[in-house]
Amino acid sequence: MEASLTARDRVGIQDFVLLDAYTSETAFLDNLRKRFHENLIYTYIGTLLVSLNPYKELDIYSKKQMDTYMGVNFFELPPHIYALADNVFRTMMSEFNNHFILISGESGAGKTEACKKILHFYAVSCPSTKILNNVRDRLLLSNPVLEAFGNAKTLKNDNSSRFGKYMDIQFDHQGGAVGGHILSYLLEKSRVVHQNHGERNFHIFYQLVDGGDEDLLRWLGLRRDCQHYNYLVQGDCAKVSSVNDRSDWRTVRKALSVVDFSESDVEHLFGIVASVLHLGNLKFEADTRGYAALHNSQEMHWLSKLLGIPAQVLQQGLTHRKIEAKTEEVFSPFSVDHAVYARDALAKAVYGRTFNWLVNKINESLANVDSSRKTVIGLLDIYGFEVFTVNSFEQFCINYCNEKLQQLFIQLTLKSEQAEYEMEGVEWEPVPYFNNKIICDLVEEKHRGIISLLDEECLRPGEATDFTLLEKMEEIIGGHPHFVTHKLADQKTRKSLARGDFRLLHYAGEVTYSVVGFLDKNNDLLYRNGKEVMQQSKNLIIKHCFPPSEPDQKKRPETVVTQFKSSLVGLIEILGTKEPWYVRCIKPNEAKEPGRFDDVLVRHQVKYLGLMEHLRVRRAGFAYRRKYEIFLQRYKPLCPDTWPNWKGTAAEGVQVLIKHLGYQPDEYKMGRTKIFIRHPRTLFATEDAFQVCKHKLATKIQAKYKGYRVKGDYQKQKEAATKIENCWRGLMARKEREKREWAVAIIKRFIKGFMTRNEPSGADNREYLSYVRHSYLTRLRENLPKTLLHKDLWLTPPPILKETSLFLKQLFIRHMVRKYVQGITEERKALLLLKVQTSFMFKGKKESYPLSVRTPFLDTRIGIGDMNMKALRMIKHENVKYSVPVVKYDRNGFRPRPRQLVFTRDAAYLLDEAKIKQRIRYGSLKGVSVSNLSDNFLILHVTCDDVKQKGDLVLECDFLFEALTKLSAIVDKCDFIQVVQDSVRFDIQPGREGVVDFRSGQESVVYRAKNGHLTVKSTSTKSR
Ligand SMILES: Nc1ncnc2c1ncn2[C@@H]1O[C@H](COP(=O)(O)OP(=O)(O)OP(=O)(O)O)[C@@H](O)[C@H]1O
Ligand SMILES: [Mg+2]
Repeated sequence: MEASLTARDRVGIQDFVLLDAYTSETAFLDNLRKRFHENLIYTYIGTLLVSLNPYKELDIYSKKQMDTYMGVNFFELPPHIYALADNVFRTMMSEFNNHFILISGESGAGKTEACKKILHFYAVSCPSTKILNNVRDRLLLSNPVLEAFGNAKTLKNDNSSRFGKYMDIQFDHQGGAVGGHILSYLLEKSRVVHQNHGERNFHIFYQLVDGGDEDLLRWLGLRRDCQHYNYLVQGDCAKVSSVNDRSDWRTVRKALSVVDFSESDVEHLFGIVASVLHLGNLKFEADTRGYAALHNSQEMHWLSKLLGIPAQVLQQGLTHRKIEAKTEEVFSPFSVDHAVYARDALAKAVYGRTFNWLVNKINESLANVDSSRKTVIGLLDIYGFEVFTVNSFEQFCINYCNEKLQQLFIQLTLKSEQAEYEMEGVEWEPVPYFNNKIICDLVEEKHRGIISLLDEECLRPGEATDFTLLEKMEEIIGGHPHFVTHKLADQKTRKSLARGDFRLLHYAGEVTYSVVGFLDKNNDLLYRNGKEVMQQSKNLIIKHCFPPSEPDQKKRPETVVTQFKSSLVGLIEILGTKEPWYVRCIKPNEAKEPGRFDDVLVRHQVKYLGLMEHLRVRRAGFAYRRKYEIFLQRYKPLCPDTWPNWKGTAAEGVQVLIKHLGYQPDEYKMGRTKIFIRHPRTLFATEDAFQVCKHKLATKIQAKYKGYRVKGDYQKQKEAATKIENCWRGLMARKEREKREWAVAIIKRFIKGFMTRNEPSGADNREYLSYVRHSYLTRLRENLPKTLLHKDLWLTPPPILKETSLFLKQLFIRHMVRKYVQGITEERKALLLLKVQTSFMFKGKKESYPLSVRTPFLDTRIGIGDMNMKALRMIKHENVKYSVPVVKYDRNGFRPRPRQLVFTRDAAYLLDEAKIKQRIRYGSLKGVSVSNLSDNFLILHVTCDDVKQKGDLVLECDFLFEALTKLSAIVDKCDFIQVVQDSVRFDIQPGREGVVDFRSGQESVVYRAKNGHLTVKSTSTKSR
């Protein structure tokens, strides 16, 4: 912020109208200097652009810069030539009228460059089509051609335009550049034959000699050596470091074809350029009579060839003058000096006319054939006021031209200022300014003006000289306040004037002219037979430039100054109908050095360009004026009522705004569409306040904008997310639908399969059946019975697999059995075999049998260690097979006694501790009785031969089935066991019987019944 507030001090103001001390030349210069040192070469005076030549390339002419300035309000950006060009273009488009940009300034101030920049800007910014591009290329490329033929190196400028140029660019209603037209003024022809030291002839000569290819040079009879040609060596500086003749030559050659020059045109054109060089090398020598004679037959040969004129005709034309006497024509020979003069005159005429032909030719190529209405922007690149130490005829013409243009400027500016005030309803305050009409009249007035006097002297018979002209001027206009000569001057002034000088007080200052050469230059005589010779030329351009009608006119041709005056009148007419814009170019130093600002030189130009005058006119009333809309738009942040938006009209808004800012009534005026501010300081105060406020606003706007951006981004992301979500959902839904469709098909097939499951396998149920099969087999695999005992838990098969299932079941059972069997040990096998035997003996016979099945048999129930050693020793030799604890019931009284029953290989023993109570050999064992109930009684029936012998044994054994099975295995019989019902008789001793009754009861009891029987009650296993 600090920077922007102090920037004005550093870089100055960008519009001189805002200069407080607007009448001070020093303040003006200070501002220019400040800006120049900051590389700010452009400054406005209102809409006039002051341009300082930077003498270095600045990075301000890029395409980006052009884009920046395109369509932007004139005062919104720093001053620039593009801003002016754009403003002109947009005004033309909106108002549909014609404009011109007058570019003036001293030689080397940058007029031609400015003109090119404007042209480039239009080339880039205007609409383009293929046809328009063609026109654009021609407009752009006409420049190098004209510069080659019309520019030269001078002491002031290495590329000095030696002619004035006015170029019209025609635009159609859409703004497309559709054509152009060029007018040229006062080409400095004298340069063709003479150059001051340090200067060159026109560029084209050097370009041709340096750049032309060998064949061309050979054809033209030229050497690749500028030093060889008289017309190129007088300035003694054929080579210039800043000019590349060779590459320029290539550009020109290319440009010529773009601007429609045929090969034959080009051939003839360079034929002429070469002819001029050959002409310059012609040498005359005095013959015996003192007349001029030609010696360079070589040069004559090339001249004759290139111009297409017989050599002798040429020779005659160059050494003789044709005088028409009353009835006859007489050829009078030239002296050597005369011949040289005539030769140079011919060279100048040939080149000058060819230049005009060239301009016309370019105009043909630029001509727009479409007759619809066009608007025009004219570019006038014309010499500015020239003041040298010695000023001659050319400076007189140039300065006269500038006087005329100044007059036009005053008229147009004052007119437009006044018109603006009127239009805005603001009271017009007359502007004091210097009206240069008095000087224009001094120069151009009929019969009394300098031009008239000059022409008169040129045309009158008798010995007229430059000095007779001076005398005449002294005589006729001697009293004029703007004219003074040595003779007329007062003592003091006379010192600064030579005898042949006259001084004019131009609007921009005094200029002293030397009258020497005025008559000669004004006459610009080309002897008549010179023209006649040229008329015989076979070179088409020369033929065209010297039409046969010309010499017949007996009338003297118009003098140079009269021609110039008429062309100026024409120009002023052209400009008078158009809206003016101005670019004033200033050169900062004579040394062409960047960064050097020569105060004296610049002050001089400021004066001669009439810039102070211009500023005065622009500042006459109000320093600043702007459309209400623009003013309000810029400064509305300064007032809370107008920020951010003003609802009413712009004028009301401005009124509210300036009231808030505290403008005093004499500081401003409200026009119809614009506000007028009298003093720059008022505006600066407002601008400074704006700069302070701007930063705060910028932060706010930035924050808002960031918020807006983020919101926008978020919105976008959200939309994108929704889109993606939708797409994803769609995709998923489609997949789901496909899945469902697939599932429906499967289910349908499944149902169909289910419905036809009992039919033979076919298309409808094949899949289903295979599924059923697969499913059953899978389930079966997981649900196979764990053991053989669970074999009936076999999964119920679907009907189609009944057979398979059965088969599988058998297979499985067999497999299980096999597995089971393979897992059985020898011991277990023996045990099981015993169990099988038990089953044979008791299954279905004794009630308690089923309960015994699950109790595994042991080898023995009493271990060897638990038996009485003594008893064991007695029976050991018989090999004890099995022993089991039993309860023995006495045969008499049936008292129960615990005993051990032991089976050996040979006999069964009943042991009571160490005693063998009874030994029963197996041979005497008749049988064993057991009841069919669930008691554990067994009666061993023995054969009793002897009364002393003990009878049958009534025993109760918890391991009844095991013991009896072991016994049957030992005796290897199984039919000796009888399962009896109700009661069993037994032998107490031979001949004496006892009875045991077996009953079922609520509880298991054993007792001696009253009938003397042993009653054994057992609970039924079924009820258990
Ligand atoms: N804007 C610019 N930027 C850089 N260099 C420039 C600029 N303007 C002019 N120059 C330099 O100054 C030189 C002279 O400029 P230019 O030929 O435009 O002068 P002029 O006013 O046309 O002179 P004359 O009246 O002799 O034709 C150019 O060749 C160029 O080197
Ligand atoms: Mg120029």
